[in-house]
Amino acid sequence: MKQQHTEPADFYTGIVAESYAPLKSFSPDPAVYAAFVREAGGPALELGCGDGDPLLALRRDGLDVEGVDSSADMLERCRRRADAAGVSVTVHHQRMEALGLPRRFQAVFLAGPTFNLLPDDATAAAALHGIRRHLLDGGSALIPLHVPSPTPADRIGQVRTAVADDGAELRFSLVSEERDETARTQTALLRYERHGAGGPTAVERPWLLHWYPRSVFEELAAAAGLTTVSVTDPDGNAVADDAAYMVFRLRAA
Ligand SMILES: C[S@@+](CC[C@H](N)C(=O)[O-])C[C@H]1O[C@@H](n2cnc3c(N)ncnc32)[C@H](O)[C@@H]1O
Repeated sequence: MKQQHTEPADFYTGIVAESYAPLKSFSPDPAVYAAFVREAGGPALELGCGDGDPLLALRRDGLDVEGVDSSADMLERCRRRADAAGVSVTVHHQRMEALGLPRRFQAVFLAGPTFNLLPDDATAAAALHGIRRHLLDGGSALIPLHVPSPTPADRIGQVRTAVADDGAELRFSLVSEERDETARTQTALLRYERHGAGGPTAVERPWLLHWYPRSVFEELAAAAGLTTVSVTDPDGNAVADDAAYMVFRLRAA
């Protein structure tokens, strides 16, 4: 078994990318992001588009949306799904904290709390500056954020299984979890196994989530030239300052 110290931006590679779709229990509702893009206007950019949810659904709807992801393996899956569905898609292999695209956008969004995968405030600040640089003046950004809860003790060690494209059995479990309230991080050690032709393989990787009090995130956004327009729950209702899930709508000043 291999224990890997992957960088956070490289977590979704190799066996993790292979396991992503088979183990997935939740998909973002494309209608939410289609509505945002229609309201904000195109062209639009999804950060952390992964293997194509909701990017491909938006492209199927005819929206002018491109994708960015730090995992070449996830983007390869996205391109294969697009080909199979007969949808054309433009995706870029970049980290959102080091964005450098030739185009500017009217709308930039993340579908779900992928921004929490950035490991610290400095990396988040770099990503927010990149978002600002890639927005046209007056353009909008939509960034969902959450404060993760500690995983209940009885879920540690529980194994979930799924079947890979080639019929191999995939196994997934949470080995351990550490929480640091000062750094505002929760790091889970996740174990992925593959049992198929070629013998069993197993990898353990840390999966880090970093969270923000509302005021801290608003300050980081303001320092990047992004004004907070609203902070809501996923249904668009106003939320308390200490809500566990917040959707930030930002405008390029
Ligand atoms: C939870 S997945 C979400 C994928 C897809 N949007 C979905 O909902 O199925 C998060 C994605 O963000 C990507 N990611 C993580 N850190 C990133 C970074 N720093 N820059 C760009 N993409 C990143 C991962 O490679 C992964 O594909």
